[in-house]
This record gives sequence, structure tokens and C-alpha cells, in this order.
Amino acid sequence: MLISSLLKGNTPAKFSVSYVLRSEMLFECCWLNLLAAVAAAAFGLVALIVFYAKITCGVCKSTKNMKGKTVIITGATSGIGKETARDLAKRGARLILACRTVSAAEEVKAEISNETGNKDIEVRRLDLGSFESVREFCKGILASEKQLDVLVHNAGCAETFNKKVSPDGIELTLATNHYGPFLMTNLLIDLLKKSRPSRIVVVASSLYVIKRLTLDEANLVDGLPALMYYRSKFANIAFALELARKLEGTGVTVNCLHPGLVDTGIWKSVPFPMNLGLKLIIKGFFKTPEEGAQTTIYLATSEEVEGVSGKYYSDCKESSLSAAVQDPDFGKKLWEISETMVKLTADDPKI
Ligand SMILES: NC(=O)c1ccc[n+]([C@@H]2O[C@H](COP(=O)([O-])OP(=O)(O)OC[C@H]3O[C@@H](n4cnc5c(N)ncnc54)[C@H](OP(=O)(O)O)[C@@H]3O)[C@@H](O)[C@H]2O)c1
Repeated sequence: MLISSLLKGNTPAKFSVSYVLRSEMLFECCWLNLLAAVAAAAFGLVALIVFYAKITCGVCKSTKNMKGKTVIITGATSGIGKETARDLAKRGARLILACRTVSAAEEVKAEISNETGNKDIEVRRLDLGSFESVREFCKGILASEKQLDVLVHNAGCAETFNKKVSPDGIELTLATNHYGPFLMTNLLIDLLKKSRPSRIVVVASSLYVIKRLTLDEANLVDGLPALMYYRSKFANIAFALELARKLEGTGVTVNCLHPGLVDTGIWKSVPFPMNLGLKLIIKGFFKTPEEGAQTTIYLATSEEVEGVSGKYYSDCKESSLSAAVQDPDFGKKLWEISETMVKLTADDPKI
């Protein structure tokens, strides 16, 4: 009323400067109160979401001792792999950290060894993006190890826009995330069979639903790298399910998992300025690497999954999959294509 009468040029009878100031302050106070209420409600909602995510986050409750067990973990220099290694070291396992960046792996080994007192930890070089390196690594393992109880396929890479090709001429994301682990599994299968009951754990992702891999995309060097990551995670799951079918009755089980969305190095390829908003979301909502490692640790150790094979887990519970990724026909054909891509020879072990 005051404003409209001022606009009309009318001066109220009791108009004074202090009256205007008081009214404006009251007006501003109302706005501030409203803004404060909206901010408090938004903050409360965010806190509630974060709290809900924390309490529903799966935790491996198994206290299984792993003394006497040999475990290979790929990509243990950071993130989920490093936390998986830390937990398994605490349980007394003999650990082989299969890593591309040996200097970083040596630091992780020293840190975990000092913290847990476990001195039975080794670093071996493995570049999953190179078939030569995979073969060299497996040759070394077969020469030195009498048993292999758990093989954790954890390593992974993701690019957003940078197109890269492996030394074998294969799109690098698919080479590292799928073909490398495929070749490695084939070359180590006899040791795993000899060590039965043994386990293979494949760290996949629920983001596989974003882009499925098709059979004519076995080497899509021109694809958008960001989409290649989703395709590679699709391949991880299809591979794990087909492998489980092939290993039925051998005493070697294989399961795959989604670790959750986790604050790790996997997001580092997202470029500026897209990464600014993402960083806030990651810090506010994503799991810590320790939380993200729980389902891997569960599948590697828990008695609950003894004998269980060909399943997909999230938050330490079995989870469902799309029909496309479970298609056994697709799994079989992807297997055949992968055998050709990694150039398996007649002398290599046959799964
Ligand atoms: N973080 C998430 O939200 C999330 C969600 C779903 C699934 N995952 C999966 O979780 C797994 C672990 O990733 P992370 O999130 O812990 O990411 P990270 O911190 O970036 O760890 C990735 C690891 O893989 C290694 N690696 C990359 N390329 C390699 C190669 N060519 N050969 C051997 N090792 C290689 C890295 O070694 P370097 O030190 O040499 O780089 C590093 O140790 C991946 O399979 C990823 O797809 C993650």
C-alpha cells in the first residue's frame, strides 16, 4: 500500500523516513525468512538423501580369514582396488597387486603392509591394454604360484572425448576393460581350477544400461570414448555370465557387481567445465572408496556366496539385470569374437 501510494504521488498523512525504513526492513525480513526456510528445507532434504544412501550402503559382514589364500587384484593403485587390497591384507591373504603403474603400486604395498602387518604382498606389472603385457604377467604367475584362490578383475579406465587405441590396434577402453581381463582369465584358468573352490570377481557397473554393446562393435575405434566405457561394462557382465556357464561344475565360481557410484579416479577424464558440477555431486553424494569396495570384498570372501555363480550383486545383495545383457546367445557370440580379438592360440588353455 505504501509503495502504491508513493507511486501515485500521494504522501500518506503519517509518512516519515523512519516509517519507510521500518516497512522496508519488515519486507526484507519476510524475504530473508522465506529464503532461509527454503535453504534449510533444501539442506535437510540433501542431508536426508545422504543419510539414506549411507544407511542403505551395503557392508560386507563376513569376518572370513583369508590366511593361506592367494588373491590377485588388478588396478590396486587407487580407489576400489586399493581398498579391496587393504581389507584382504587385514584378513591375511597373500596378495598380488597386478598394476600398470608399478611405482604407485609399490607405495600402496608399503602403506598397506605397514598398516596391516601383512608382509605377503607382491607387486607385479600388468597393463591390461596390452596383450603382450597380459601374457607376460600370466606367464610369471604360472611360474611362481602354486594356487590362485581369488581373481579380482577390478582395473578399469574411462575416457570422455580422447580417442585412444591399444598397441594391438583395439579401442583402448574396450581393450583394457574387457579384452585384457578376458585373455587373463583364459590364461590363468587352469591354476584357478587346480585351486578349487576358487572365485572370479568382475567389477562391472550398473551404467551398462546406458549403452549396450552390439556384436558389430567389437572394435569401434571411432566411437565416442565415454560410450565405450558403458559398452565395456556391458561386456564385463555378458562375459561373467558366459564364463559362469562355461565353468559350471569346475569348482570355479564367477560373479559380477556394481560397486555403487564411488569417489575415485575413474571420473578424472571428465573435462572442464563439466567436472565442476560433477565434483560437487561426487563429494556430496558418492560412496567413499572403502564403501565402494564392500561388494567386491563380499564376493571375494563371504561364505554366503560359496558355490554361487553367474550372479550380479550390488550393495552385497543379488541384483537384477536387463534381458539384453543376460542373453546367452549374445554371451556365446561375444566369447567367440573375444577369442579371435585376443588371438588365443591352440596352445593356450581352453575354458
Ligand atoms: N568409481 C565408480 O563410481 C565406479 C562405478 C562403477 C564401476 N566402477 C568400476 O570400478 C573399477 C575400479 O575403478 P575405480 O572407480 O576404483 O577407479 P580408479 O581409482 O581410477 O582405479 C582404476 C584402477 O585401474 C587401473 N588401470 C587403469 N588402466 C589400466 C591398465 N591398462 N592396466 C592395468 N591397470 C589399469 C588404474 O591404474 P593406474 O594407477 O595405472 O592408472 C587404477 O589402479 C573399474 O572397473 C570401474 O569401471 C567404478
